[in-house]
Amino acid sequence: MKVTPWEVSGQIDYDKLIKEFGVEKIDDKLLSRIKKHTGDLHVFLRRKLFFAHRDMNWLLDEYERGNKFYLYTGRGPSEGMHLGHLIPFMFTKWLQDKFDVPLYIQLTDDEKFLVKDKLTLKDTHRMAYENALDVVAVGFKPGKTFIFSDLDYSKTLYNNALLVAKKLNLSTAKAVFGITNEDNVGKIFFASMQSVPAFLPSIEAGRNIPCLIPHGIDQDPYFRVTRDILPKLGFYKPASIQSQFLPPLTGVEGKMSASQHESAIYLTDDEKIVANKIRKYAFSGGQPTIQEHREKGGNPDIDVSFIWLKMIFEESDEKLKKIHDDYKSGKMLTSELKEILIEKINKFLIEHRKNREKVKLDKFLLKD
Ligand code: TYM
Repeated sequence: MKVTPWEVSGQIDYDKLIKEFGVEKIDDKLLSRIKKHTGDLHVFLRRKLFFAHRDMNWLLDEYERGNKFYLYTGRGPSEGMHLGHLIPFMFTKWLQDKFDVPLYIQLTDDEKFLVKDKLTLKDTHRMAYENALDVVAVGFKPGKTFIFSDLDYSKTLYNNALLVAKKLNLSTAKAVFGITNEDNVGKIFFASMQSVPAFLPSIEAGRNIPCLIPHGIDQDPYFRVTRDILPKLGFYKPASIQSQFLPPLTGVEGKMSASQHESAIYLTDDEKIVANKIRKYAFSGGQPTIQEHREKGGNPDIDVSFIWLKMIFEESDEKLKKIHDDYKSGKMLTSELKEILIEKINKFLIEHRKNREKVKLDKFLLKD
């Protein structure tokens, strides 16, 4: 298993990651505490897709004392977004709606230029604005949501990144990110850029404001560094909440990744492409023949179509249980399970693209 901000591969053992990264598992006690404020629990929390956190209890202590937090999350714009990228944004929208708090969204066009050999600054800058449309289409509140390209907000960010960079030494960067002598120096400095939105609103307000960062677990190394350095600069450590990865279509190992086209569903994939990809590539827990499937049944635990329904697309616990039981008993065939998923994804994507058309980005953008 390998989990870094730039590479995720192998069979992911989330319990092992909790220990290695030093995050805390989300337990029932924390879930009830969240529910006290939100009234209900998002399906991502109920199904433990968001599985770990740092300092959520502190954040809620502060909130209960009247010290409201803000949210911060982001996207590295290297190409078109896929379904996995939307997970943290969908969850962040729910948090924003429930707690009625501001949100800062960083688009790291600088990072993607530094880590992707073939991309120019022009490419990543253009993708930042393409991706911004998809992000805002998730339904964030104008006036409370601020989105920026690092390149276009660089004066503000750079002035503050310097504060972090001065406290980040090479041995920490090597240990936390697995940086080697062959890596470019930009990658090391960039870690400071991703820390800035975790304290920028505090600088602007002239007082410390708690910050909560929802993200996929691969981004945690950045925030480990941020949490280490911010108190040295007089700011709070940000709290964070981590999600597991939506697995690739082709199997349960690694994460859905933009670099493997057949394993990802892109937000631009039309109905036909979605149906073809799922019919052709979705890893199945079914048996090789219909007869065998009817006799022995399928294995939902390794079946990617079932896992995707469980993670995102089937919110009803009752319906999910029926699909699970029917598939396991052999009553439901792999082809039938796949059709359920195809319909759900297409409905979701059609709605998403309609919302994307309506986005007025100017209402959300921060620039220098
Ligand atoms: P990026 O563009 O790699 O990913 C954007 C967000 O999506 C999460 N993610 C996934 N979640 C579930 N399943 C998947 N298959 C999957 N693939 C990606 C990532 O963990 C991330 O939360 N450096 C960042 C951009 C960034 C950022 C942030 C992210 C800047 N500031 C603050 C989170 C919070 C990046 O390249 O993300």
